[in-house]
Amino acid sequence: MATELKKGLYWVGVADWDIRHFHGHELSTHRGSTYNSYLIVDEKIALVDTVWAPFQDQLIENIREVVDPARIDYVITNHAEPDHSGSLPVVMRHCTKATLVVSKRGMDSVPGHYHQSWNFKAVGTGETIVLGKNTLVFVEAPMVHWPDSMFTYAAGLNVLMPNDAFGQHYATAFRFNDQVDNEELYQEAIKYYANILTPYSKMVAKKIDEVLAMNLPVEMILPSHGVLWRKEPLQIVKKYQEWAAQRPERSAVILYDTMWQATRRMAEAIGQGMAEMGVPYKIFHMATSDRNDVITEIFKSKGVLVGSPTLNQGLLPTIAPILEDLKGLRFQNKVGAAFGSYGWSGEHIRHLEDHLARCNIQIVRAGVKAKWQPTAADLDSCRDLGKAVAEAVKAE
Ligand code: FEO
Repeated sequence: MATELKKGLYWVGVADWDIRHFHGHELSTHRGSTYNSYLIVDEKIALVDTVWAPFQDQLIENIREVVDPARIDYVITNHAEPDHSGSLPVVMRHCTKATLVVSKRGMDSVPGHYHQSWNFKAVGTGETIVLGKNTLVFVEAPMVHWPDSMFTYAAGLNVLMPNDAFGQHYATAFRFNDQVDNEELYQEAIKYYANILTPYSKMVAKKIDEVLAMNLPVEMILPSHGVLWRKEPLQIVKKYQEWAAQRPERSAVILYDTMWQATRRMAEAIGQGMAEMGVPYKIFHMATSDRNDVITEIFKSKGVLVGSPTLNQGLLPTIAPILEDLKGLRFQNKVGAAFGSYGWSGEHIRHLEDHLARCNIQIVRAGVKAKWQPTAADLDSCRDLGKAVAEAVKAE
């Protein structure tokens, strides 16, 4: 159903209450998502972003509640990822006179996805399209989070449509931030930032500075996923500035996997050492924990301890995916250490420390290994390791 957000501005997107995995299976979405599409009705009519292809009929129906799609003059595609551009083939069939507006880098990604000879118009930062009372202003935002990413600002309506930036995978009954549970909203917003945007933090901070310097009045920030920021819209911009600075909390995450509980006992002893130092920690068993939720907790925390026993001269398979993610996410300002049990060859600490170094996690102290089940002395070493990491977590 179309929802009027302001006079002449409509949300014509869809809520996807069912989706639990995004990007194939790369990202968990426990609270579903929305694909937000916006319709601006002025002397000229513009549609800003579309929805994922399985919902294309719903999008067309929503548009029809407001206008005949054949009257649409401009379709703006801020970003080619299929969750936003997937309906373009059907939209462009219905919007028979529309010009398809993309960023300069979008001239690579959009045709690269659809191989259609639509009536394209490439725009760069500062270029405008006058709709009537309202004018669209474009700001390229490369690597926030794809090379083609672009923000569209509607002057007159005074709303910023920054596509993926400031979004959350969060399906809700109501559209605005003052109508939903803000604790859930921020959990989803930080998860989105931690898992998707962290590697581009420098670009995010720079782009925010650039947009703020334009001194545009912003009454609403309308991302392409989740809830729309109407109440104090700049609150999420300030949060992004904090997150982009990557100054983590004085806390730690201890993640591990185990076969016969030896490495679990070591994890708990490390936690005891941290607690003695007054540093809060969370323990995650990777065989039963959601990888993206653990990544979010790591993003928030300064300390990261990783444990695995040796298996076939390597690590338990559940540990490898999160280490691969952490390498790519390039978190800053982390300290940590390795631990785990072994039976005979015992290469796990070396492997874990190699991974920690590749993940940009500064190793505070050599890891603790325990043969078979840990002895009382091994558990004391784990407590000492917890204390050493806690000290580094507390250090300025
Ligand atoms: Fe980068 Fe929501 O797609």
